[in-house]
Amino acid sequence: MTSVATPGLDNAPTTHARLLAWVREMAELTTPDQVVWVDGSDEEWERLTGKLVDAGTFTRLQAKPNSFHCASDPSDVARVEDRTYICSVDEADAGPTNNWMEPAEMKSIMTELYRGCMRGRTMYVIPFCMGPVEAENPMFGVELTDSEYVVVSMRVMARIGQYVLDAMGEDRPFVPAMHSLGAPLDEGQQDVPWPCSDTKYIVHFPEERAIWSYGSGYGGNALLGKKCYSLRIASVMARDEGWLAEHMLILKLTSPQQKVYYVAGAFPSACGKTNLAMLEPTIPGWKVETIGDDIAWMRFGEDGRLYAINPEFGLFGVAPGTGYDTNPNAMRTIEHGNSVFTNVALTDDGDVWWEGMTDDAPAHLTDWKGRDWTPESDEPSSHPNSRFCTPINQCPILAPEYTDPKGVPISAILFGGRRKTTIPLVSEARDWNHGVFMGATLSSETTAAATGAVGVVRRDPFAMLPFIGYNAADYFGHWVNTGKQADATKLPRIFYVNWFRRDEDGGFLWPGFGENSRVLKWVVERLEGTAAAVETPVGHVPTVDSLDVSGLDMAPEQVAAALAVKPEEWREEIPQITEWFEKFGDKLPSTMWDELEILKSRLA
Ligand code: GTP
Ligand code: MN
Ligand code: MN
Repeated sequence: MTSVATPGLDNAPTTHARLLAWVREMAELTTPDQVVWVDGSDEEWERLTGKLVDAGTFTRLQAKPNSFHCASDPSDVARVEDRTYICSVDEADAGPTNNWMEPAEMKSIMTELYRGCMRGRTMYVIPFCMGPVEAENPMFGVELTDSEYVVVSMRVMARIGQYVLDAMGEDRPFVPAMHSLGAPLDEGQQDVPWPCSDTKYIVHFPEERAIWSYGSGYGGNALLGKKCYSLRIASVMARDEGWLAEHMLILKLTSPQQKVYYVAGAFPSACGKTNLAMLEPTIPGWKVETIGDDIAWMRFGEDGRLYAINPEFGLFGVAPGTGYDTNPNAMRTIEHGNSVFTNVALTDDGDVWWEGMTDDAPAHLTDWKGRDWTPESDEPSSHPNSRFCTPINQCPILAPEYTDPKGVPISAILFGGRRKTTIPLVSEARDWNHGVFMGATLSSETTAAATGAVGVVRRDPFAMLPFIGYNAADYFGHWVNTGKQADATKLPRIFYVNWFRRDEDGGFLWPGFGENSRVLKWVVERLEGTAAAVETPVGHVPTVDSLDVSGLDMAPEQVAAALAVKPEEWREEIPQITEWFEKFGDKLPSTMWDELEILKSRLA
């Protein structure tokens, strides 16, 4: 084959034998024109962003330094859950919530897809590390990709480059993460701005700790350190090694008495993690600092407490709805530049805009599909899943603990979804197992941003439905066991929140965003044993007086409506929860049925 002649293959800047052998094997299979080892330098960034501008993929912004607008192919705009597979050896290990195929069968299909798939392109080798390289066991990965967009985005989202490769030494373990756009170029063939394939596979081999991705260039399908490694593969590692890999934000909260608490929160996609992680409190004396906005890895420390790190290096946030009114710290983060904005609109003066950034839309824009747009246009200017990709160290409220490999001790975990009815603004679990039940039955309404009917309640356990790399029932069991590993007084307390409850007219009962600091305050007061609560069938709920609503334009009846636990609404949940649990057969931990029985009897 052509391997001997492939430039870049024989002068690799590493002596890591397993890595060298794998890169050679993949280069021989995919036949790129050259292999480039990504060093993570500024010079490399200049070269690759320049290449993307020349290709028409990127537009350099005039209004923000070192920042780029990018439009994807309109068919390649989001994670493809129906094309995502967990190829465990045993089908039962993938469970009823994942797609599964026998590993050997999947490999033979994908090997044929990969054969020659990088023809006419460059294979980039991206050494990366999720979490600090200084960690006791650094979590290395190497992504192979034929997409410059992926290289540039990975540089923002993860620690990458030569210093990571050096830290891998000759034989440190790493997760091999193979990616191709699936769009080879023949001699003389003109490239398109966003190459991709109609055939897509996002595949995980949990026993091998390996990722194979094909056909998509976007987000969680292609930046393999994020959902594929840090959630799907890491959740399997965490099961085997006794820790937790979760779809959670991490924030640092300082009270007016200068007491510090660390809070984690799991909400499904587009349900408010990035917003809560960067919150600006509206109540005097309280301070929030950001540690992570999407992923938390949690391990027990020597003191028996659960410590969390954010394995990521950047923010990949939902753009629409982000503005100075709702998330000013996200706006300040992107103002520093060094960012990529995908599938948002472009202003006439070389800036980006999206719905919700400002109250009034500019008079003229170029929409995400490259068409003229005015406020009279029928469609939004930006795709609902358009994203900003920006370095986390530009966040003005980043907590210094962000870089600590030891992580931060978590005092409270919030679960939350998007529910018009039923779920109160906040409730506290009676104990750990009740909290696990809250996580296992977490539900959220589908939004217009997702395919299918709008407003349909679906279970999204622990906000991890698309990200659990093994059987979800085993995952619930892992959470139950986690609670047994520690002294109950040292475990985080568990809460369930709902910022999205509506009144009869369809308006939000709770103002949300910065006002969510009032809920965080109640959480802290519960930890400190000072806040009052009523015991309801679904847990401890604030009394109307114990929630600080001072200065808010909210009648006591509205506060009560946000906090209400209505037995008739909860009775309607029971058959849905029962049906959900029955999916898992014998694998469901019996504690989950016990908790359901407790709920039923309390509602009776
Ligand atoms: P992923 O990054 O996809 O995992 O989502 P996320 O959980 O980070 O969601 P994000 O914070 O980006 O919020 C998504 C949407 O929810 C945006 O449209 C926000 O404006 C909206 N949102 C966030 N917090 C609140 C809130 O407290 N109240 C209301 N009403 N809407 C909110
Ligand atoms: Mn997410
Ligand atoms: Mn987010």
